[in-house]
Amino acid sequence: MSDVSRPSPSEARTGNPAGTSAGTRTAVVIPAAGRGVRLGPGAPKALRALNGTPMLIHAVRAMAASRAVSLVVVVAPPDGAAEVKSLLDAHALPERTDFLVVPGGESRQESVRLGLDALPPDYDIVLVHDAARPLVPVDTVDAVIEAVRDGAPAVVPALPLADTVKEVDPAANPGEPEPVVATPRRARLRAVQTPQGFDRATLIRAHETVTDDVTDDAGMVEQLGLTVVVVPGHEEAFKVTRPLDLVLAEAVLARRRLNDGF
Ligand code: C5P
Repeated sequence: MSDVSRPSPSEARTGNPAGTSAGTRTAVVIPAAGRGVRLGPGAPKALRALNGTPMLIHAVRAMAASRAVSLVVVVAPPDGAAEVKSLLDAHALPERTDFLVVPGGESRQESVRLGLDALPPDYDIVLVHDAARPLVPVDTVDAVIEAVRDGAPAVVPALPLADTVKEVDPAANPGEPEPVVATPRRARLRAVQTPQGFDRATLIRAHETVTDDVTDDAGMVEQLGLTVVVVPGHEEAFKVTRPLDLVLAEAVLARRRLNDGF
């Protein structure tokens, strides 16, 4: 674990599209405190192994792969902060990035807020990235940071949908038929991923103001009446939710190993 007060060598780095530029420093908050019940019984989702390495470590590496990112705050399961700290110590991570671990809360929203509370003052851009999206490519991370630097208060990576989506009146019991209420035009819909990127002050205001239950942070910024923009997401940024997603994630890693010539 490195000391957050250490000045990041990336401050002096130039030439990368999303490299550190004067006046903007980027931190990432990774909520990793969920149980992951849809994945079946076992360890908290973020600590499950993919190709022998915990999903969380893949997610941390994916964020630290961006030269613009100089701090990663991991929000650990409330009783698992010590375990997460030793995991980070045990795995090779880029020298230029600092790491902090804080215990999480009851909901994703609360976990993100606890991560924000732990941020040192000198970060203007904050990304929030689900530990459950371990394979997001660095180009997607950089595209999000770039759009925040260009002035957007909130940025989400997203993809068009393959399926048509129906809005229903949800049944009281699972498995019962559900009446369709509406069919939004598919061409106008996007499936949203992470990392989502924010002007730090905007995200903090959103977390202080919005108390409704939301499934993503950008939704809270929308509730402030601000414009959230979408940049292209990536199919490898999918969320590991169900057992089949673990199979897909292992397949993506195997393809990467093949392409890297290992
Ligand atoms: O449950 P869901 O898949 O939406 O969780 C998304 C992310 O939020 C996961 O990385 C999970 O670990 C995290 N989370 C959290 N604290 C909670 C619940 C979920 O950090 N209480």
